[in-house]
Amino acid sequence: MLNKEKILNALEYALPVTLFDVTDSTNLRLKEMCRSGDKRLQLLCADHQTAGRGRLGRSFLSPENTGIYMSLLLPLPKDDLPLTIRAAVAVCRAVEEVTGKHLLIKWVNDLFLNRKKVCGILAEGVEDMAVLGIGLNVKMPRGGFPGVPIAGALEADEDREALIGRISFHVLKTMEEEKGSILSFYRERMLLTGKEITFMHSGQEKNARVVGVDDKGGLVVQTAQGMEILRTGEVSIGSFQVSAFE
Ligand code: BTN
Repeated sequence: MLNKEKILNALEYALPVTLFDVTDSTNLRLKEMCRSGDKRLQLLCADHQTAGRGRLGRSFLSPENTGIYMSLLLPLPKDDLPLTIRAAVAVCRAVEEVTGKHLLIKWVNDLFLNRKKVCGILAEGVEDMAVLGIGLNVKMPRGGFPGVPIAGALEADEDREALIGRISFHVLKTMEEEKGSILSFYRERMLLTGKEITFMHSGQEKNARVVGVDDKGGLVVQTAQGMEILRTGEVSIGSFQVSAFE
């Protein structure tokens, strides 16, 4: 069960906050609220999701008491740097501030600690706004994450409310921040730079070496045919858990 007062104390901004013990998906709830006319910037959190949504149509396991499942209704960014890049930076900053733990970023917006994914981010458009969903595993659930060997947890002792409040604060701050400083933070934490990856292009698997991240958050890769910039989708490394960190 989450405590609203504690979230508001950590948040600093006067933002409407709605808490659910359980819901299907905080992203779905917030999209529904927006479509029915409630377009206030706001935060919605659940202690437990029964149908947490991940990127690329996947699901996101969201057991009770151990994780953070939060969605923010936001305006679209004012520039061409995607919201998900801003959010990855904001979560890294908040986690470090609250727990001292140093997360790494796998392009575009998966966050890793000790070679395990501890946070996923899903941004979805609704009307003329964006719903930014963040799922962060704070503690390992008793049964682990069945079928998701890459998943791990922060194993932080701090209150989930402090993390929710500070993540929201840092997301709102990055919305006002000029993109140069966001990008330099992102590039420092990006664990794919210099690695060999594979990605899908027109239905074909291609190999490449990651050169870096461009000014719009695209992944710059060197293939046998020349330089390419990946804007969406997913990249993988042969045995990612091992090689991406070596
Ligand atoms: C991913 O890793 O593919 C993205 C996962 C995003 C999960 C969060 S949890 C809060 C919000 N509500 C959802 O249904 N999904 C996002």
